Amino acid sequence: MFITFEGIEGTGKSTQIELLKAHLETQGRRVLVTLEPGGSRIGAELRRVLLSLENRDLCARAELFLYLADRAQHVAQVVRPALEAGQVVLCDRFVDSTVAYQAYGRGLDADMLHGLNSLAVDGLWPDLTILLDLEAEVGLTRAVARNQAEGKTVAEGRFEAESLAFHDRVRQGYKAWAARFPQRIRSVDASGTPEGIAAAVRRLVDPLLAETRLNA
Ligand code: TYD
Repeated sequence: MFITFEGIEGTGKSTQIELLKAHLETQGRRVLVTLEPGGSRIGAELRRVLLSLENRDLCARAELFLYLADRAQHVAQVVRPALEAGQVVLCDRFVDSTVAYQAYGRGLDADMLHGLNSLAVDGLWPDLTILLDLEAEVGLTRAVARNQAEGKTVAEGRFEAESLAFHDRVRQGYKAWAARFPQRIRSVDASGTPEGIAAAVRRLVDPLLAETRLNA
């Protein structure tokens, strides 16, 4: 079972992934938590290039291909082997980040990016995508506070430095894409408490896992 988490900055993706991991492990499942960009050894190098403020001059098309390269390597080396070994894979960002950020955020064509994503994932699409939905202003305020607390304003700030309008376009893009793939992408209101959001996430995941067990 391959579950991805999406949303703008500051929606609490990593907190929710950890809560879901703990929940699944109490059911005796083996869980792998991973992320994009940076889920493989080579991907970690690409992540540094992608997120560094030094690289403000990275053009939109080059940025796109680095995300896709990261994804292809991640799928081949990490995600597919883990799924084949029977693990549940929880991934922080995946294909829909490319559509939301590079298409709706940067202005590239969404359908073209969908095609490129399909090349990168080589048939391996998520079984379920949880979209943590939050107003851009709230998300950004949270993300800036978190980055300051973690002291990583310079090395990891390229996207946080983008305007509120950019993040709002990304959020609207996620919503539009979720409406296009309503079976796979399920939106969860991320404005509540972490526990409340986690319960909503479990209500989406548990029935799906129960189904797989029956089919297994
Ligand atoms: P990260 O620090 O992981 O952000 P967050 O904590 O919000 O998940 O940084 C990843 C950044 O990369 C994030 O701003 C979104 C961006 N991104 C894209 O633009 N396209 C992509 O395909 C992916 C995977 C991420």
